[in-house]
Amino acid sequence: MKVLITREIPQAGISILKKHPEIEIDYRKGPPLTQEELITAIKDADAIIPVIPDQINKEVLNAAKKLKIIAHYAVGYDNIDIDTATQLGIYVSNTPGDLTESVAEHSLALMMAVGRRIVESDRFTRTGEYRYWDPMIYLGPKFMGKTLGIIGFGRIGQHFARIAHFGLNMKILFHDSNKIDFKDFPAEQCELDHLLENSDIVSLHCNLTEQTRHLIGEQEMKKMQPDAIIINTARGPVINEKALATALKEKWIEGAGLDVFEEEPVINAELLNLDNVVLTPHIGSATREARIQMARMAALNVVEVLINKKPPINLVNKNLISSLV
Ligand code: GLV
Repeated sequence: MKVLITREIPQAGISILKKHPEIEIDYRKGPPLTQEELITAIKDADAIIPVIPDQINKEVLNAAKKLKIIAHYAVGYDNIDIDTATQLGIYVSNTPGDLTESVAEHSLALMMAVGRRIVESDRFTRTGEYRYWDPMIYLGPKFMGKTLGIIGFGRIGQHFARIAHFGLNMKILFHDSNKIDFKDFPAEQCELDHLLENSDIVSLHCNLTEQTRHLIGEQEMKKMQPDAIIINTARGPVINEKALATALKEKWIEGAGLDVFEEEPVINAELLNLDNVVLTPHIGSATREARIQMARMAALNVVEVLINKKPPINLVNKNLISSLV
């Protein structure tokens, strides 16, 4: 049984697969497979452990003649054609868990970095411009007691809310297309416009879907407060990046912290030239703990399907099971 792994992942996952002599590992440690290489490599694979940039679309899935599981090495799966996978009877699994806390912590890090102007002032300090103490430089907001608006109130959004509420006494507004019964502390579910108009920080934690693509564009950013900060650790296309660059240049809002981009790894040239945006290369889940756990989860999901002949532990396309019974 062949398991295709498209990028280097922590050894913890490989060790789990290696316990099963029936499993042969096709380990592509990089550089990324082209779409043609992916199509060739997946043809005789029984399982694949892909990463976010791999486009597991209809063409790839139709080429896969033996595939039983796509054990995604990520929590978000907008790069996978779930409907086609389900029609073809292929399980899809993902890797929640430590990732939830790690991405929420990265959102906090970006919020702090933008507000307290860490990257700009680091540059200032290391390039010798720091010649005397100046009470008027690099001013930013205090976060204690401010309002955090969270768009997409799933596991990660809720965890960021807890950090902000219990750590910084922040008031939490949230917007979600589902009604969420959140009981940990008082947090207000509201319409998007209310959230945009009343939040000091807006943080995105929704999935990328046709409904959330460009959810935040020119009109939405004009509704935000001029000293507001926007954070995106979800998916790049949720924000219209061109409109964001204009918003930052024309100071409709104060700053942005972005871990994800519309055309990763290509970054909008205008954003690269702005000081009021902090950019990181999609490292939200990049803690040692999360990455090791993600590798284990992906491998265990493969073992559950190929060896134990059961659905994966972290099943995404749950309707596949209902269609099988
Ligand atoms: C990261 O972006 C993930 O979806 O795991």
